[in-house]
Amino acid sequence: MCGIVAYVGNKQCQNLLLEGLKRLEYRGYDSAGIATIQDGHIRVVKTVGRVANLEDKLEEVGGVRGTIGMCHTRWATHGGVTDPNAHPHTDDKSGICLIHNGIIENYASLKTYLEEKGHKFQSQTDTEVLAMLIGELYSPSEGVDLEAAVQAALREVTGAYGIVVMCDKEPDTLVAARKGSPLMVGVGNGEYLVASDGSAVVSHTSQAFALEDYQVVKLTPKGFRTSTIHNVPVTPKIQQLEIELESIELGAYSHFMQKEIFEQPKCLSNTFRGRIDTRDGKVVLGGLASFAKELTRAKRVILLGQGTALHAAMIGEYLMEDLAKVCAVAEYASEFRYRNPIIEENTVAIAVSQSGETADTLAALQEAKDRGALALGVINVVGSTMARETDAGVYLRVGPEIGVASTKAFVGQVAVLTLVSIFLGRRRFMSADQCAEVLKALETVPDKIQRILEHDAKIKSVTERYIDRENWLFLGRGYNYPTALEGALKLKEISYIHAEGMPAAEMKHGPIALINEGMPAVFIANRGRQYEKVISNIQEVKARGGRIIAVATEGDEQIKRHADDVFYVPDIPEALSPMLTVIPLQLMAYHAAVLRGHDVDKPRNLAKSVTVE
Ligand code: F6R
Repeated sequence: MCGIVAYVGNKQCQNLLLEGLKRLEYRGYDSAGIATIQDGHIRVVKTVGRVANLEDKLEEVGGVRGTIGMCHTRWATHGGVTDPNAHPHTDDKSGICLIHNGIIENYASLKTYLEEKGHKFQSQTDTEVLAMLIGELYSPSEGVDLEAAVQAALREVTGAYGIVVMCDKEPDTLVAARKGSPLMVGVGNGEYLVASDGSAVVSHTSQAFALEDYQVVKLTPKGFRTSTIHNVPVTPKIQQLEIELESIELGAYSHFMQKEIFEQPKCLSNTFRGRIDTRDGKVVLGGLASFAKELTRAKRVILLGQGTALHAAMIGEYLMEDLAKVCAVAEYASEFRYRNPIIEENTVAIAVSQSGETADTLAALQEAKDRGALALGVINVVGSTMARETDAGVYLRVGPEIGVASTKAFVGQVAVLTLVSIFLGRRRFMSADQCAEVLKALETVPDKIQRILEHDAKIKSVTERYIDRENWLFLGRGYNYPTALEGALKLKEISYIHAEGMPAAEMKHGPIALINEGMPAVFIANRGRQYEKVISNIQEVKARGGRIIAVATEGDEQIKRHADDVFYVPDIPEALSPMLTVIPLQLMAYHAAVLRGHDVDKPRNLAKSVTVE
């Protein structure tokens, strides 16, 4: 969704804001804008396009000055991608300026009310309505200062917001508030930053606190005050930001997605560190320790996620049934939340999410929790909303994921779900020896991923051969059916090639009609229970002119008779194989996007974290 950065202090803030905004560009890149209070007046510069376009425009107009300011990168929801719809938005009465991430659901009725009062709108956005409403309520002569006006306006609003507001009549004050959309406050020495996430703050200060829902913060160079929208004071918990600068910088790589694919071995070693005990055949998960009894009694596990996270959850479903012998189901969080789900006693709901902010996953988790489920999180971003809403959880520890297409988080999610399944399995049916055996294999995953990455050049050259094809199939069975879905999603989202993933057996029930001469079909054909069946499916596609790209197990010579191209992955127990088989698919998608000349890290229409429904 949108990215927000704001500053109040004693430094000239234009460049500092732009630097932060660049770090948040993965959240949206339809338009960008900046505002400062310059010589007592609000000065706004905004434009469609990227932060780079904003920099060009700033250069044209001679930049903006001021020691208080805000900037925004937009992922459009209400209103098209135009200059007037870009943030910041101002009001027409009180000198208010505002940036917003989220959706004001009752904006239409508020707009009618404000139009009746004579306000004239310049944009089609819900955000401008909020700026006007705050301006309408602002009345210092009646004791309604900026903070009070923001609180009052937010009491009228339904929907989601992370906002920062300033007013030219209070030129030392920033007011920020949140409901549903993340915001954090970086605490410096006589200066404060507000941002959608810590990456925009960390190069200035490592002390920060997260705003909670319905909280408002007033910031001046002299200090800050936090309260609820009903003006009840609250005391935030200032914490150390655990982000290393290196982890949010590109280094020698061309794109963040490439960097994140290549750092997967290191990331998984972090995920496993201190959690695998092969000597005693057990998994050590501090986050779950106090819920071990409830987990042992679990009768049903519901795994909730969206997109790539859902694909990891689907693998989790297989893992839970196989390793922990507990009935499990993976569900689109967006569907689950609007059903009337039956949550029986001893149900565990697991939210799977990189950001920990996806609106649907959060709401689905809440629904399951309200109906009595134990709520767990398998989440990457430490301290994210989901991490705070769950009863307990296990962090991925794969570091910040900046590329919009999720790669290392997927592998991290599958790895953690494997650990959780073994943690459960060991308490239910697995012996220490069985457990130790799987764990020993699990420990080999980082090295094995490294070996696959060494075949990058070959993967690139095969991708090149099929680069003009507009329709692809991705087929797999069992554990690798979700991997097929993930391969198709990766290709779609960054190279804009139409791809479908499905269980290989499903193909005969209709999609086989799509196959024509030369159509690429990627089969995940590693050695496993259904290997022979996959080979039959390969032949069915080949007989109809399809071109076969197979992901197979090292040493499998037979596959060469059936496939046009083969990517080998090291041998590993089937339950752990998706963490390996997905790697060539990630690399293919990456190369396809580069070869087609797309912006890999900022694919069109997408945003990294979907904080609206
Ligand atoms: C695809 C992708 C998305 C996310 C989905 C959930 O590459 O990144 O499909 O997986 O939006 O996001 P999180 O994991 O943050 O809940």
